[in-house]
Amino acid sequence: MRKKARLAPVIAVDGPAASGKGTIARALAKHFNLPHMDTGLLYRAVALNLWRWGGDPGNEFEALRACDDLGFVPDDPELRSEPVSKIASMISAYPAVRTALLERQQDFARQDGGAVLDGRDIGTVIAPGADVKLFITATAQVRAGRRLKELEKCGMAAHFEEVLADIRARDERDSGREVAPLKPAADAVLLDTSDLAPEQAIAEAVRLADERLARADR
Ligand code: CDP
Repeated sequence: MRKKARLAPVIAVDGPAASGKGTIARALAKHFNLPHMDTGLLYRAVALNLWRWGGDPGNEFEALRACDDLGFVPDDPELRSEPVSKIASMISAYPAVRTALLERQQDFARQDGGAVLDGRDIGTVIAPGADVKLFITATAQVRAGRRLKELEKCGMAAHFEEVLADIRARDERDSGREVAPLKPAADAVLLDTSDLAPEQAIAEAVRLADERLARADR
């Protein structure tokens, strides 16, 4: 039977820290004219709330309280600061925090006009029925190099070895947690960006998404 063509697709982009998923997700949103949600920002906003009122990231109940009143300015540089990144990675392992943020993400994924979401569990938990699922990877060395450049651009001093150790620790926490661990959905397409310049990675992601969408319409 012929499947009904979907006009406004849902695209899930998952992957580890500094794999290029944010750049790719933004570019896909622009290319397909879809709204985009960077779900990592939600976890970062919770972390920033918690950090500002001096809550304990080791305490799930306090982290849950930090999910209330989640107003945040997406380009607040503090959201991307090192302490907030570390706290975000810790509190995102709490089931209560993930549940508190679930509806907002699922509502975004279900909107009529389609959507692109990037994160860790979009293709597996938030939008398992997404039309396109991309899982973006790159070696830890390459990702650490990219993160170092980003930090330097923001005027923050950092050392490659420290950034690499941090990336590895985050990979381990993200992949090892019991709830919604970082892993490709069974039907995700893998895209390794280790040897690709941003524009090459974007072109390849658009090609893969087009291919998937064409197949879904057949
Ligand atoms: O790209 P990067 O890892 O620097 O950060 P991010 O995507 O902004 O996510 C910040 C943190 O939130 C990550 O360390 C993940 O642990 C967590 N996260 C998550 O658990 N699930 C998501 N859907 C998005 C982010």
